[in-house]
Amino acid sequence: MSGQAITRAGPLHATALSAIHARAFPEGEYWDARIIAGQLSQPGVFGLIDTRGGMILARLAADEAEVLTVAVVPERRQQGLGGSLVAAAAEEARQRGAARIFLEVSTRNPAARGLYQRLGFTQVGRRRAYYADGSDALVLSKRLGEKNVLF
Ligand SMILES: CC(C)(COP(=O)(O)OP(=O)(O)OC[C@H]1O[C@@H](n2cnc3c(N)ncnc32)[C@H](O)[C@@H]1OP(=O)(O)O)[C@@H](O)C(=O)NCCC(=O)NCCS
Repeated sequence: MSGQAITRAGPLHATALSAIHARAFPEGEYWDARIIAGQLSQPGVFGLIDTRGGMILARLAADEAEVLTVAVVPERRQQGLGGSLVAAAAEEARQRGAARIFLEVSTRNPAARGLYQRLGFTQVGRRRAYYADGSDALVLSKRLGEKNVLF
């Protein structure tokens, strides 16, 4: 796992994960502790927390992984936390046998799109009017290669 502040988070950490998520997403879009605990109890789902104010949930199914959500509190953005969390989740998934990692991002989210582009994700699909605000989702993917050549 990259980043000393990043550790595994299970259902018992749902309140802390939710507190970060609630500060990163608008009212009505954030995941409360009940939702996060439910996600983390699903097969293949795992969470990581950055104690400085970041979190990520991902799911592994067969040899494919998916980022379910990633969030960094506003005052800690642009300091590399988001990138480290995505890289750490990808490494965790790779160690568990994932060959590719996928995620969805809104066309109206330049911060996240910039982050994923920098990490080497490329577009593999598009879901029209996927989000509540009517924006499209871009489906992005990255192949998970040999150890230490990930990101
Ligand atoms: C997306 C998010 C997790 C990024 O977290 P972060 O800790 O700021 O990420 P990093 O510091 O590792 O990387 C930030 C990168 O985002 C990009 N970025 C940030 N703001 C940007 C903007 N307004 N326009 C374009 N790119 C932007 C840059 O590529 C930047 O890289 P740099 O450090 O080389 O400049 C954070 O902004 C967040 O929580 N947003 C709200 C929740 C969300 O949208 N989650 C993702 C849903 S798919």
